[in-house]
Amino acid sequence: MDNVAKLKIDGKTCSLPIVVGSEGERGIDISTLRQATGCITLDEGYGNTGACRSDITFIDGEKGILRYRGIPIEALAEKSSFIETAFLLIYGHLPNHKELRRFSDLLTQNEMLHEDLKFHFEGFPAHAHPMAILSAMINATSCFVPGVLDAYDPEAFESQAARLLAKVRTIAAFAYRKSRGLPIMYPKPVFKYTANFLHMMFSEPYQEYDLKPEVVRALDLIFLLHADHEQNCSTATVRMIASSQANIFACAAGGVCALWGPLHGGANQAVIEMLESIHREGDDGSKFIAAAKDKKSGKRLMGFGHRVYKNYDPRAKIIKAQCDKVLESLNISDPLLDIAKRLEEAALRDSYFIERKLYPNVDFYSGIIMRAIGIPLEMFTVIFAIGRMPGWIANYKEVMDAPHGRISRPRQIYTGHTERPYQPMSERGQE
Ligand code: SDX
Repeated sequence: MDNVAKLKIDGKTCSLPIVVGSEGERGIDISTLRQATGCITLDEGYGNTGACRSDITFIDGEKGILRYRGIPIEALAEKSSFIETAFLLIYGHLPNHKELRRFSDLLTQNEMLHEDLKFHFEGFPAHAHPMAILSAMINATSCFVPGVLDAYDPEAFESQAARLLAKVRTIAAFAYRKSRGLPIMYPKPVFKYTANFLHMMFSEPYQEYDLKPEVVRALDLIFLLHADHEQNCSTATVRMIASSQANIFACAAGGVCALWGPLHGGANQAVIEMLESIHREGDDGSKFIAAAKDKKSGKRLMGFGHRVYKNYDPRAKIIKAQCDKVLESLNISDPLLDIAKRLEEAALRDSYFIERKLYPNVDFYSGIIMRAIGIPLEMFTVIFAIGRMPGWIANYKEVMDAPHGRISRPRQIYTGHTERPYQPMSERGQE
């Protein structure tokens, strides 16, 4: 295989080195391209462009492989927990007992919010979307973190990362309680990460929430499966912000905003809204699939398709299997699950989806589990954000630890007006 790519342009040949990743992926290093040819590349949506080297997560989209720090997602889903996996992503190895205890204790010590932050929650209208509250309150929280505006210090990173990971869950629960006019439920140190979140979401001053182990496990698995996913839109955003050396909270708040879009993390909410509308209209799914194939309809089969996976998203496989288990253990039957399975079956037989290699992604079934455990629809993307926090933190750390970090600043191809004079008002026409 060549280790140099030759580019012929304007009668000259430019040699570009080929970078090979640990799994054999090859990238053409174009860092000298403009200097050598005067040209830049153009790749709208970055479908063919690597923005960085990273050691954190590996995806093989053709084979449907996902590994966190080399460990297959299937093994982590079966044997690990969200917090152990968070440690793995952030620090690069599975923690021993002592490391896990320290990490877990740091999260417990940092689970509370500064009491003055409560006033910020009071300012949001009840109908405020919790993703708006989450991004705002992550930044507001940073105002109470000592040293957060100081230059990046690897020593301070551990406590700042723990604060962020611990508090994002508290902010999310407080936002939910506020939106329902419910009293805020403070975290309890006796509970571990996911159980504490469910406690803060659903306990009442007069009655503790019944923490069923199967519910805690199901949500912990949802968090784990969302924990990282290489250079997806929100993680790439976090890295972009980190490249300017902004603080870890600013990076996370930016990640929340990027994740919110319905083409990204907002898809889990959009899938349930889609399934509910199909159910309401008594459609057996065929009408909706026809619309999803018709570009003019403006509809897409939400939860299907992926920029990288051209095979079944391994996370979707795991979540689909969990759906049946969780619903059975909670003695729930959800017509939306049957509709989802029928949609999947029909789509995977349909040439439109087959030709475009469109398969279920992580969002297609995750909402069924979240519904079953009582997470309200508007909180689905917030759950995704909590799950993705370790991945954002790990990528932030990777950018900040890079020896010669440069600010990310893409170029463009300008297609606007060529030079033209300033027109006085009198010459601008009356319309
Ligand atoms: C996540 O990147 C990540 O890793 C993201 C994520 C993570 O963990 O961070 O995995 C999480 O965001 C998963 C994706 C959630 N989004 C959705 O489920 C929304 C529905 N899916 C799509 O909108 C779409 O598939 C994307 C956004 C996921 C991917 O878009 P691409 O790669 O830009 O693909 P495209 O829009 O260019 O589509 C290629 C073709 C087009 O048709 P043609 O122009 O070739 O005729 O496939 C069609 C699209 O119209 N298509 C779909 C479709 N997805 C793509 N048609 C109908 N339904 C769909 N869902």
